[in-house]
Amino acid sequence: MITDAAQESVPEQDVLVTSRPLDEYCALFGLTRARLAALPGPVLDCPGGAAALAAEARALGCRVIAADPAYALPLSEVAARALAARTSMAAAMAARPELYPSPGPRRPDRYLRSWDRARRLFAVDSATHPQRYVAAALPRLPFSDGAFALTLSGYLLFAYPELFGSERQLAALIELVRVTAADGEVRVQPLHDGHGRRCGHLDRLRYALGGRRIASEVRRVSGGDGRTRRVLVLRAVGRHPRRRPSSRL
Ligand SMILES: C[S@@+](CC[C@H](N)C(=O)[O-])C[C@H]1O[C@@H](n2cnc3c(N)ncnc32)[C@H](O)[C@@H]1O
Repeated sequence: MITDAAQESVPEQDVLVTSRPLDEYCALFGLTRARLAALPGPVLDCPGGAAALAAEARALGCRVIAADPAYALPLSEVAARALAARTSMAAAMAARPELYPSPGPRRPDRYLRSWDRARRLFAVDSATHPQRYVAAALPRLPFSDGAFALTLSGYLLFAYPELFGSERQLAALIELVRVTAADGEVRVQPLHDGHGRRCGHLDRLRYALGGRRIASEVRRVSGGDGRTRRVLVLRAVGRHPRRRPSSRL
């Protein structure tokens, strides 16, 4: 499944290395444990950050490969960045509670404790099973065409518009579809940045994807926390999109 292309990757200092647990992934992407357990092939989590998806999904019989440039760093450095991300998140939740999943006086603490647990699971799993954690950076991934039954991409492409402009977003989305099976799908969220501002060129991106024979849908999903979220769902139509030297919007 792993090709020798694009093993080089440069971790971005400005991007938080967050540590979400499996249940939060399910809520954010509109998935269930049962759906993950029933998948006919492996899942790609890109970016994986310090999340526990790969560690926790195994217990369901679901194989997850996480890809992230941070995995090129020593594990101690990834752990330090994940702890720093937790501190940033605690400050951000205190400053703008309406943007985050657990408003209310005590619930932010409980929410962040779920990140602490996920971070610990990630640390043990990535030390024990390093082959599940591949150092790689979008928009170029070292996986073969159609390798994954489901590809998830959370809190990167639209969350950091200063790093991912429209051309790079398009190239990254095409790449995520390339590595996903023709009968599988790519799910991307959130569709807004860290200030809650929606991506203003999403329609243009979707039009450009259509030109590459990639069908897109903005699906409203509801998580166990009672909130509804918008998820971009992509599928290859007909022939699988191949990697090309450049992608234009
Ligand atoms: C906010 S975290 C999201 C992690 C996980 N998906 C989650 O929801 O908790 C963003 C991650 O993107 C990674 N990242 C930064 N640049 C990247 C790139 N070009 N390709 C893939 N991942 C990248 C960072 O190292 C960081 O771990």
